Amino acid sequence: MQKNIKANVSWVGYIDWELETFHGDDYSIFNGSSQNAYLIKEEKTVLIDTVWTPHRFDFIENLKQAVDLHKIDFIVINHGEADHTGALPALMDLIPSTPIYCTAAAVKSLEGQYGQRGWNFNVVKTGDTLDIGNGKKLMFIDMKMLHWPDSMATFLTGDNILFSNDAFGQHYGVQELFNDRADQCILKREALKYFVNILNPFAMLVSKKINEIKNLNLQIEMIAPSHGAIWRDNPMQIIDLYEKWSSVYQENQITIVYDTMWNGTAEIAHKISEEIATISPDTVVKVYQISKSDKNEVMTEIFKSKALILGSPTISNDVMASVSGWVAFLKQLKFKGKKAAAFGCYGWSGESVKILQEKLKDAGFEVIDESVKSLWKPNGQDLTLISDMVKKLV
Ligand code: FEO
Repeated sequence: MQKNIKANVSWVGYIDWELETFHGDDYSIFNGSSQNAYLIKEEKTVLIDTVWTPHRFDFIENLKQAVDLHKIDFIVINHGEADHTGALPALMDLIPSTPIYCTAAAVKSLEGQYGQRGWNFNVVKTGDTLDIGNGKKLMFIDMKMLHWPDSMATFLTGDNILFSNDAFGQHYGVQELFNDRADQCILKREALKYFVNILNPFAMLVSKKINEIKNLNLQIEMIAPSHGAIWRDNPMQIIDLYEKWSSVYQENQITIVYDTMWNGTAEIAHKISEEIATISPDTVVKVYQISKSDKNEVMTEIFKSKALILGSPTISNDVMASVSGWVAFLKQLKFKGKKAAAFGCYGWSGESVKILQEKLKDAGFEVIDESVKSLWKPNGQDLTLISDMVKKLV
């Protein structure tokens, strides 16, 4: 499928309805996704990005319907990750001398992944432009660490489209392509989930980059990311959301995450939830048994929270593997400005609460001293501890 998105610009990507996970199994996909590529036909013809390797032949056949491949004057590669460059080797086999515009870091990632194939690289940086005729230019904007060192965005003057690559994207398949045609609840949720799970580790850089883009006075009329819906209706809304999300974001929410062996720790989790609802009815409470929950959705809820309460029983002088594995991912996301507390049941040695507190500190949370450590199952004394913990957090 190809579809005109504005003036002489068409979408020539691939909607991946069957995709279930991304980054290996590190990111869950519930609503399909897409790898967006774009074709600009002015005096010069330009391809921006490609698609993931398994779809390379579909992509090339589709592209042939839109243009004689030998008429492509330039290829812009905004980012080297395989979901956007997987089709490049097969395409370059057909048009090997076509110039590729990308960052210096992208040359390294492309050659690292696909080998040194003698491609005609043209290295660009912020402010560099490429004349494509009819009074239009492409301007390149370095997007280093959003989310790879090689990332960049490309702005098309005249039509004022920002091809932002991963930034402002969502893992969300939208046949109609545009944000105003998408289910608004899913769109906002998927945009947030994408930001939390992929971009939040670089949140400080997001703020700086948005300021830099604003200072370029680009008059953006459309944001065309490399995944999900294209922002044509009020495109600045996603930039505003990124600004909000990248500055130590939180709502009046507390999220409880735990795992349990014989339900004692689950019982504490439930009592903590009820206590929050009693003491602070305005606070939203979410409860997840991590071994039975989607980790990316849980991370999205923690991002919205002012505090995380984490529980595990003690097992073999440690915490449950489901919890410790998840905490390793929690640390990667570099959440800021959030409080945390720990709880858990034990029968013999009882180390879990202390271990959880240390892990939470290590993950960047401000851990309160109040905790709940229950022998076998929560008792009357523990209910007081739960109340003290909740009072401190709400
Ligand atoms: Fe969509 Fe960083 O790849």
